[in-house]
Amino acid sequence: MRLLNKDLLGIQQLTAEEINLILDTAKTMKMVLSANSKKTAHLQGKSVITLFYENSTRTRLSFEMAAKFMGASSANVSSSGSSINKGETLVDTAMTIDHMATDVLIMRHNQSGAPHLIAPRINASVINAGDGMNEHPTQALLDLFTMREHKGTLKGLKVAILGDIVHSRVARSNFYGLQKMGAEVRLAGPQTLLPQHIDRDRLHICDSHSEAAEQADVVMGLRLQLERMKKGLIPSVSEYARFFAVDRKLLDLACPDALIMHPGPCNHGVEMPSDIYDSPQSVIQEQVTNGLAVRMAILYLLVSRRNVE
Ligand code: NCD
Repeated sequence: MRLLNKDLLGIQQLTAEEINLILDTAKTMKMVLSANSKKTAHLQGKSVITLFYENSTRTRLSFEMAAKFMGASSANVSSSGSSINKGETLVDTAMTIDHMATDVLIMRHNQSGAPHLIAPRINASVINAGDGMNEHPTQALLDLFTMREHKGTLKGLKVAILGDIVHSRVARSNFYGLQKMGAEVRLAGPQTLLPQHIDRDRLHICDSHSEAAEQADVVMGLRLQLERMKKGLIPSVSEYARFFAVDRKLLDLACPDALIMHPGPCNHGVEMPSDIYDSPQSVIQEQVTNGLAVRMAILYLLVSRRNVE
């Protein structure tokens, strides 16, 4: 069993079998992370480049470390300090990187669809590390991995995803992935931060955070994507915190052993209070470690696929 496509552009393009393959491979990679020596030879002689047009701590660093742990040569390109600031186009930038014998190009861009534009034009495998409001497949895969590790299976799991749904590529990718794996996804947020022109029943959009959290196995908070928001969608950040934070009262409605998740970065006291972020039910720091394991697995699977082509 191997991945079907050269690129990983979104969860929408993956089958349930491919998702399982990635999660199973990540399990092995996680063992590497807890070993005394974190070096493997899976990517020996390969080249991995990250191209980020938006800020990132977790995603970019975990891809870079994953590549290094597996023996690849890796480098970062970001808008500041590169020819992007001289006006070079996205396609020209990606082509230039491709002609440096690159095997995998990991890109983040504020435009939905940017990696889809690049993937067919270059030889390297493209991984979408977040494109605008569209998808963030590796975040969803690490979230699925974390849920499966704790709950044993994704099938039948009740997952509440709360907050700024409309601007969140994390919500979108998690929704596609969890649905494919047989989980029940409930979305909720302020009316102005919910998708408007879609079939609300198909997406299982709840009327309130409380309805979504009822007996949930997982409660996931999302960051308010202020950088993608038109003015006036929420009265104020403090009112959002007052009425929509993932707080203890809300969690009392969920299963007693519900996992608390957040993709980070978290605005403490806005999306959730710090005591919830740090509580024993929170797996937020585990999500970070699992992000490394999942990204190692994806790099390994994409490179193995290239090796047999
Ligand atoms: C997310 C992103 O960039 O979409 N962050 C991440 O990759 N961990 C979520 C966010 O920024 O809110």
